[in-house]
Amino acid sequence: MSAKIKFGVVGFGHIGKRHAAMINGNDESEVIAVADVSEDRQLEAKEILGERATVYASIEELLKNPEVDIVNICTPNGWHAKQALWTLEAKKHVVIEKPMGLNRQECEEVIFKSLQVSKHAFIVKQNRYSPTSVWLKSLIDEGKLGETYMVQMNCYWNRDDRYYKKGGWKGLKNMDGGVLFTQFSHFLDIMYWLFGDIKNINAKFQNFNHKTSTEFIDSGFVGFEFINGGLGTINFSTSIWGQNMESSIAIIGEKGSVKVSGQYMDTVSHCVVEDYEMPILPPANPPNDYGDYKGSAANHHYVIENVVNVLKGRSQINTNALEGMKVVEMIERIYQEGTYLG
Ligand SMILES: NC(=O)c1ccc[n+]([C@@H]2O[C@H](COP(=O)([O-])OP(=O)(O)OC[C@H]3O[C@@H](n4cnc5c(N)ncnc54)[C@H](O)[C@@H]3O)[C@@H](O)[C@H]2O)c1
Repeated sequence: MSAKIKFGVVGFGHIGKRHAAMINGNDESEVIAVADVSEDRQLEAKEILGERATVYASIEELLKNPEVDIVNICTPNGWHAKQALWTLEAKKHVVIEKPMGLNRQECEEVIFKSLQVSKHAFIVKQNRYSPTSVWLKSLIDEGKLGETYMVQMNCYWNRDDRYYKKGGWKGLKNMDGGVLFTQFSHFLDIMYWLFGDIKNINAKFQNFNHKTSTEFIDSGFVGFEFINGGLGTINFSTSIWGQNMESSIAIIGEKGSVKVSGQYMDTVSHCVVEDYEMPILPPANPPNDYGDYKGSAANHHYVIENVVNVLKGRSQINTNALEGMKVVEMIERIYQEGTYLG
């Protein structure tokens, strides 16, 4: 077998640990370096990875390691684009957790650098691998629904004080960015992947029950038009009491309508389409479980598999940096063009 691809992981928190496990679980890749600014996390990395990986206190030190081929950025959102840029400057490929950045400009700088140094920038959007997402994509791409009339997306999750803990990065404007970046960018990505860019945005935002725990609004209604035709809305909130309620997408097309719902957009609840019989889909992977709260689908192994296949020259990138930037730009525009009701 040819040599394993050597990964560095920056940020060894919830998701960094998953990345490391998925990388070491793939026969063709291994984690040889980890960086985290927290001493506790450095100790955890040493315990979990042992002799196999060198543990650093900063990304700057890790990037000096000539053995590292590619670095996975698993730090708070506000660091993503900056650390991706440094990684590319060090002539290494980069895998960037979602969101790619917190504004279009910093994402553009990453894309420019990636092209300049001929190194790949991969974006993590693992929900695209969910059976319902794969099915929706084929339905839309094959034109089964005809013209798109309306798309409605609902994202109703619970994020309360169990999630926003004092002293952490979650809830901070400069590190978290807001719920559309941290909780719901996966769903905006699916919408962008299926229907493309949006224009003429109207939005209303409110902060119902996070006035003391976050620096941003928790809920909103967003209306827009798709550049390719059709109307769209996103209703979102993290004010749901107790636990996540739903993430769903309803699509009304010329030749049929479908709805994918469930807590994690994982269940087809309606499919009536001209001359079409709904196939049986494989079961979805369970959501990432963080104890008191749950997140998106546990599909990270597909992301690592795609990275390995691309670097071995066997595949194309499933989620590229341009798509990552477009989703960031859409979110930035939604936040800019909405009315804040308090
Ligand atoms: N794809 C998904 O489904 C998914 C799920 C969860 C989190 N995420 C993303 O992953 C990122 C991390 O989230 P998390 O839940 O693991 O957070 P976390 O707080 O558990 O982990 C972040 C880690 O980064 C470290 N860190 C902070 N600043 C650093 C720096 N400058 N250099 C090096 N290390 C630094 C922290 O010490 C911590 O260990 C976020 O961007 C989040 O949006 C994605």
